[in-house]
Amino acid sequence: MTERITVRRVMSPEDASALVGTRAPNLDPTHPFSAIFVNSETSEPIAAYLPLADAAPLRRALMTIDTTGGVQRQSNYRSKSRTFGYAPRRPVTRRESCALTLLGVEDPATERLLESYADQFSAALLDIDPAIVDRDTERLGDVLPDWRIGEAKLWTSGVINDTAALPYHRDGFNFPTWSAMPVVRRGVRGGHLHLPEYDLVLACADSTVIYFPGKLLVHGVTPMTRVRSDGYRFSVVYYALQGMRNCREAAEEAAYGRARRTQREADMAARLAAGDRKIPGQGGKTSAVARLRTQLKGDNEGWTAESRYTGGTKQ
Ligand SMILES: [Fe+2]
Repeated sequence: MTERITVRRVMSPEDASALVGTRAPNLDPTHPFSAIFVNSETSEPIAAYLPLADAAPLRRALMTIDTTGGVQRQSNYRSKSRTFGYAPRRPVTRRESCALTLLGVEDPATERLLESYADQFSAALLDIDPAIVDRDTERLGDVLPDWRIGEAKLWTSGVINDTAALPYHRDGFNFPTWSAMPVVRRGVRGGHLHLPEYDLVLACADSTVIYFPGKLLVHGVTPMTRVRSDGYRFSVVYYALQGMRNCREAAEEAAYGRARRTQREADMAARLAAGDRKIPGQGGKTSAVARLRTQLKGDNEGWTAESRYTGGTKQ
C-alpha cells in the first residue's frame, strides 16, 4: 500500500501565477520516492510519485525519437520536444482537421508503444483515487473516443520533453484533469519537479511517474547538469487537450480536412489565374510528403509544454 503523505498548501493559486514564466531555482527533493500527497484541509490527493513499470521499452523508444523539431525559436527558451497522440484542428498551420500527430504517421510502432503505457497510468490513477478517474472522464465528456489514448481514454495526446528545464507554468491548453509524467534518465543531475503551491519538490528519478493536474497546479523543473556527455532526462507527459472537443468522428474529420484543402487549392488557383503573384511557394515543386510534413508540422508548434506555459491563447 502506497504511503499517503499530508501536505499543506503554502501559496495561493494567485500567488503561484506570479511565478509563471520564471525559472525554478536549484532545489533538493523534499520527499522520498513513492508516495501519494494529500491536501491537509480537503484530504484529496494533489499529486503522486510512483514507480514506472516496464521502463525498458519506453527508454529504448525515447532514445530513437528525433526531438529536434520541437525547438521553440520564438521564445528565449530552447528545448527539444515531440508530440504524439492526437492534435486538434489548426488552420493557421494548414492542419484543417483533427489528426494523428506526425510521430504517429511516421512511426506507428512507437506511437502504439507510447499509447500502450496509458493503461498502466490510468490503473495507477484508479489506485490513487477512483474519484479522479470518474471526475476526469466526466470532464472529457464531449471528446469522441476516436481521439483518445488507452483503454480508460483519459488522455488525447502527449509530449516528450528531452532534458528540458521548463519554467513555471500551467498547462494552459489542457482540460483540468490529471496528467501522467513518466521519466527515464541517466547521467543528469537536477531536473526535479517543483509544485510551489505545496512546496513539493519531487526528484523525477529514473523509471518513475508523477501524476498531477498540470492545468490546475503551477509547476516547473529545476536546473539540470549533465554529468555524462551522453546524459539524458526524458519526461513524457500524457494529457487531455481541450481543443479535441471540437473534433468530429475520425472518418468525417478526414473528409472535412480534404474538402478544406481542396477549397484552399481552388482559391489559390483562382488567385493565380487572376495574376496574384504573392502566393507563397508559387512555382516551387512540393512533393506529397513535404506537403504532409508542412501540414502536420504544427503538431510541434504551440503544443509543447514550454509554450503552453504562456497560457491558452494560441489555440
Ligand atoms: Fe506542464
